[in-house]
Amino acid sequence: MAEGPEEREAALVERIARGEVIERAEDMTEGYRTNLIHLMTMQADSELAGAFGYVPWIMKAPNTSEMLAVAQITKDEVRHARVMYTLLRELGVDVEARVQAFDFAHRVEEEDLGTRRAGDDARVNIFYYPIRSWADFILFNVLMDRGAGFQLQDVEFSSYGPWRRAMQGIMKEETMHIAHGDAWLKRWGQDEAHHDEVQEALDRWYPRVMNIFGRPNSPRNAVYRRYGLKRRDNDEVRRAFAAEVAEVCRAAGLVPPPWQPDWERVPDDAWIAG
Ligand SMILES: [Fe+2]
Ligand SMILES: [Fe+2]
Repeated sequence: MAEGPEEREAALVERIARGEVIERAEDMTEGYRTNLIHLMTMQADSELAGAFGYVPWIMKAPNTSEMLAVAQITKDEVRHARVMYTLLRELGVDVEARVQAFDFAHRVEEEDLGTRRAGDDARVNIFYYPIRSWADFILFNVLMDRGAGFQLQDVEFSSYGPWRRAMQGIMKEETMHIAHGDAWLKRWGQDEAHHDEVQEALDRWYPRVMNIFGRPNSPRNAVYRRYGLKRRDNDEVRRAFAAEVAEVCRAAGLVPPPWQPDWERVPDDAWIAG
């Protein structure tokens, strides 16, 4: 007798629990495929929206060396998007139609979106906020590249082989974006002329980034963990991130604002990005 969907599902979960890596679409169940595509689409759309948010700063960077640095970071993000869309295409997603369908340059004027998305693409909602100043650009590198990096650490051990291998290259570049932000944070944090501006940007971006990690004990996170697509609870990732940010800020003479979790305002699902 042929294996039914429940047996197939149980067999897949068991293979994953043993540490086996899934390489081919034929080996996936519908549940696995749907969740994998969901996570990878959020990453792909965030990478592209992130790149487009950086584009104006190639022109507005404070000097030619920084123009080159921003151009390089922008190119990295477009590359990450391209890598992720290629993986999605291999799973049957019509990625060119998707990219044409949405305005990845769209940004909002609102100060606080809460858990809302401001469009129908799947980007993490922090990518709907505009980068309005060089201090914002710095904080984006320090907080968002770092936050994405913390979330994506799990992907380097994920059960889907192609994604896992793609992440190794992406993470190397994200590490450079974070280092770029940290160097500027230190420079401006310790400079009287810029200290208050960079503290103000930190106060604004910090609560937004803390919301991207999702709620503790989320049912979706349990599904991702069962499929080997994540390894840690959302809140565990958030706490590790917050501890590192506190350290980086202290070294720059800055203080992250107090953050009280209001779980109603945090999406259930951890939002992944780069
Ligand atoms: Fe990045
Ligand atoms: Fe990225």
